[in-house]
Amino acid sequence: MTTQQVTFTEAELLADHTMAEPLIEGGVRCHGGFDAGGTYVSPCTKFRVPAIEAWQAQNAKMFGTEVLHVPSETWPGHVPNVAQARHLIQAGVPEPLIATLTRIGTVEGFGANIRLLQPGNLQTHFDEDIRGTAIDHLGKGLFEAHGRDEAGWEEEAGHKDMWFAARDIAFETPTAKIDVEAMLARMGFGQPGAPGGFDPERALPDDIDVNLELIANLMIRVLFIEVQAFHTFAWADGWLSDGDLVAGDGRAADLVSFIRADETPHVGYLKTALTEMRDRTWIGSGGQKHKGSELIGTLWDRGLRQSLGEGRAQTRKAVLGEVEHWCLQHDGGADILAEFHSLSTAGTSDSEAA
Ligand SMILES: [Fe+2]
Ligand SMILES: [Fe+2]
Repeated sequence: MTTQQVTFTEAELLADHTMAEPLIEGGVRCHGGFDAGGTYVSPCTKFRVPAIEAWQAQNAKMFGTEVLHVPSETWPGHVPNVAQARHLIQAGVPEPLIATLTRIGTVEGFGANIRLLQPGNLQTHFDEDIRGTAIDHLGKGLFEAHGRDEAGWEEEAGHKDMWFAARDIAFETPTAKIDVEAMLARMGFGQPGAPGGFDPERALPDDIDVNLELIANLMIRVLFIEVQAFHTFAWADGWLSDGDLVAGDGRAADLVSFIRADETPHVGYLKTALTEMRDRTWIGSGGQKHKGSELIGTLWDRGLRQSLGEGRAQTRKAVLGEVEHWCLQHDGGADILAEFHSLSTAGTSDSEAA
């Protein structure tokens, strides 16, 4: 294990594998591509993926601990569920699904904010050596690769536009007829406290560097979004892959499967760096030492509470608000809406948060 490479240049962490063919879908040149065998290859993974494995192995060897883990089952399933999505489309009310795909793409784009973080020299905040760790590479390629994956880079589209492309394939360019700006505004985007905003309140002791807290906090919040997204992928595949239901012969579902593959290194590096922070001793501004496990635990618990509580309620309200908005514009809309609610996943009334 000690012979594994653990130090990488930024150029290496941003390097692509050699692709035999680019990914072009719905006229959009996307990131990533295909190898000679036709298998999808995620962008910036030539060194990033082996790097994450090497950092995890190194940390396990140094501290004898497990990598932080949070299963997707921590969060309830997607709202609307697959049966509700199918019902809306079959009832001639596809707009809430168009809204949901637009919302997902928009949130993905916000994920690129992670590249705005400025870690600087993080060694000053940790007692143990951080050379050759994921922590030490956050500002040297990892945040940048993540940002490029979410929002695109140069001429290559990222997840934001890939979700929009999936929407446009499945619903045959619906945005020509729908006011997307108004739709996003109804769902709470572009307002103070909108989804994707930073949580400004401090949770850690005053002597802990504010910037480090901001970084660790955003990483935890983004990790939770990334893990929950695996519900979204399964959900989207559950109806986007049905050629009788939506257009595109399954191409929209293929795009979603490529996005899903790209998320694995995001979860990987975030978990790895947060694990390294948890296992280390943090140094406050006056030289006081703090257990990383307590600090990360504090941010983790608060983030999870927010995600399961307010964050989820906000998303449900936005999505269910769109369902109501569009159903009630159709003849027989009240019946379509009643049927929608009757298909709610057992134990969770979809109307409760609306
Ligand atoms: Fe993404
Ligand atoms: Fe991601």
